[in-house]
Amino acid sequence: MKQITLNDGNQIPAVGFGVFMIPNDGSTYRAVREALQAGYRHIDTAAAYFNEAEVGRAVRGSGIPRSEIFVTSKLWIQDYGYEAAKQGLETSLNNLGFDYLDLYLLHQPYGDVSGAWKALEEAKKAGKVKSIGVDNMTPNFWNTFIPQFSILPAVNMVECNPFCQQKELRKLMDQHGVKLEAYYPLGHGNPELLGNPIITALAEKYQKNPGQIILRFELQEDLIVLPKSTNPERIAGNLDLFDFALAEDEMQRLRGLDTGKGAHDPEAPGTAEWLLENFKVHD
Ligand code: A2P
Repeated sequence: MKQITLNDGNQIPAVGFGVFMIPNDGSTYRAVREALQAGYRHIDTAAAYFNEAEVGRAVRGSGIPRSEIFVTSKLWIQDYGYEAAKQGLETSLNNLGFDYLDLYLLHQPYGDVSGAWKALEEAKKAGKVKSIGVDNMTPNFWNTFIPQFSILPAVNMVECNPFCQQKELRKLMDQHGVKLEAYYPLGHGNPELLGNPIITALAEKYQKNPGQIILRFELQEDLIVLPKSTNPERIAGNLDLFDFALAEDEMQRLRGLDTGKGAHDPEAPGTAEWLLENFKVHD
């Protein structure tokens, strides 16, 4: 598995298994066990995914040493502000049954981001989290918040795929050595992306499926990818990306697919209110 070195010196496996929207009825437990068996060593959850307990149970019961599995969780916006953030981290660690997290992120860029970040900086110094990062920070949010931080984020997790390549944001992040973690790396299953003729032609050429071509493109762009699948064959296939390489002219063609727009606009008015209304991690 390709590892990427973060700006704090820690390493992260370049392909992770995301569990957003996988229910906590045993499905998350089974999906994580499946992913670990397929070879994933990077699992991405969040307080607001409501399935941390199943992730923890699957990781702890896997027989694989905890130190060999990279686990990320995220602080929900209800718990922003310095004191609430400290409590939010403790709750996540309890839910997971872990004494540390490999990566802990601020899940959304709204509210008392700076207070919450201060708690994350302290948690990193105390060894409760090895790396800290942010999520959904567009260039505007980046320029608002990052100058207030003492420790730079190791990652920024944003939507990123060939139709939404985040070129402006990546330039900004590159200046600070901050890595991009791509959510919706397959365009959230967008058939126009998966059926794009440039991508299907490459799939034919390399005897891979379109999803694998897209993920390989993203890896060659030095992104960390979190493909989502509940299909065991695709879960395994989305890790099978290391026996071929796209040529530079093919990379250029794929870079040309950028539309500059994604499915989620973190700056859309009312987003914070909508999220708070629809995702409550506690009363
Ligand atoms: P499924 O769960 O049936 O595999 P994203 O990671 O961008 O959010 O995209 C997830 C969507 O893409 C899901 O609908 C998933 O469906 C589908 N998917 C996952 N892997 C592949 C693949 N290799 N090729 C095509 N579709 C895929």
